[in-house]
Amino acid sequence: MFAAYFSLLALVQLAATAVVVPSGHGLPGSREGLSQVAKAAGKLYFGSATDNPTLTDEPYISILSDNHQFTQITPANSMKWETVEPQRGVFNFTGGDQIVAFAKKNGQIVRGHTCVWHSQLAPWVAAGNFDNSTLQQIVKDHTTAVVSHWKGQIYAWDVVNEIFNDDGTWRPSPFSDIIGPSFVELAFRTAHKADPNAKLYLNDYNIDGLGPKSTAVVNLVKSLKAAKAPIHGIGLQAHMISGSIPTDIKQNIEQFTKLGVEVAITELDIRITLPVTPEKLEQQKKDYAAVVAACNSVKGCIGVTVWDFTDKYSWIPSVFAGEGDALPWDKDLVRKPAYDGIVQGFNGRS
Ligand SMILES: *[C@@H]1O[C@H](CO)[C@@H](O)[C@H](O)[C@H]1NC(C)=O
Ligand SMILES: *[C@@H]1O[C@H](CO)[C@@H](O)[C@H](O)[C@H]1NC(C)=O
Repeated sequence: MFAAYFSLLALVQLAATAVVVPSGHGLPGSREGLSQVAKAAGKLYFGSATDNPTLTDEPYISILSDNHQFTQITPANSMKWETVEPQRGVFNFTGGDQIVAFAKKNGQIVRGHTCVWHSQLAPWVAAGNFDNSTLQQIVKDHTTAVVSHWKGQIYAWDVVNEIFNDDGTWRPSPFSDIIGPSFVELAFRTAHKADPNAKLYLNDYNIDGLGPKSTAVVNLVKSLKAAKAPIHGIGLQAHMISGSIPTDIKQNIEQFTKLGVEVAITELDIRITLPVTPEKLEQQKKDYAAVVAACNSVKGCIGVTVWDFTDKYSWIPSVFAGEGDALPWDKDLVRKPAYDGIVQGFNGRS
């Protein structure tokens, strides 16, 4: 029902904007691909996360592999610790290899995600009750194995993920509890040794606007820089709520780039309280435009990645009950107004 309704709406919009010449996939709207628009604006890429089970969905793949749309891919799950090192010293790179091969075939760069994270962590890491020096060795071994396996094939690694609480204090994890904050520097130094050309990022959510968590990131980057540790980027996950976009994203990005690191929007989605309406989709379009324009207006913000591109495969409904429709293509792989919001964002500045 909804799908049919919105496809019809889409056709009505197409009819109303007579100049639109559809090309590629997912009528209607802007004719240019999102990566084409991003590159024209001077950005390095526009990208999408993807996951291995979806790589058999042909209509989905025909959009994902179109490098007019996407010049960057992030594996949503297959480089995470529980997948890659399910037992100590036993590595499985199959899923990650598949996504790296997919990207390579399509001329797309890859963001590696993620070396050290408290979640989707192999259970043996916490269950082992390791002492400080053993856990340091485990962090080193894991990071070395993963980063060196894909050496030369990854544009940027999310070396550490979600290390702060929203109030800016350290998030409890085996790493922060047993090793302490120095696990971060250890992970960055280890990753740099394993692939000296990869950009090394700290990635987190709720650091899109100013606030205590962003301030904690600023202070950490300053201390890592002071210690000459190799940190090159800050990833703003940007899992956002439509109608509640922070108003100081640009200012926040600038406070990071002033530290001498690049910034990327790494996991963008903007969720809507269901049921969706045309008005809500218009608000979401404005929200996408605002986030992308904020990145676009700072030179050091180098690219934008959506956390998959279609509502068909969004993680939102399974985690946030009653919310969804967070991505620029709908469940039927039809472009939503959000798509044009992204185009507007790259054509404008905030
Ligand atoms: C390695 O991972 C792949 C894909 O995720 C899976 O199909 C396979 O069973 C795994 N291999 C082992 C030995 O666990
Ligand atoms: C773990 O060991 C490191 C030195 O290798 C030290 O700096 C750190 O304070 C120790 N962590 C804790 C929680 O004692």
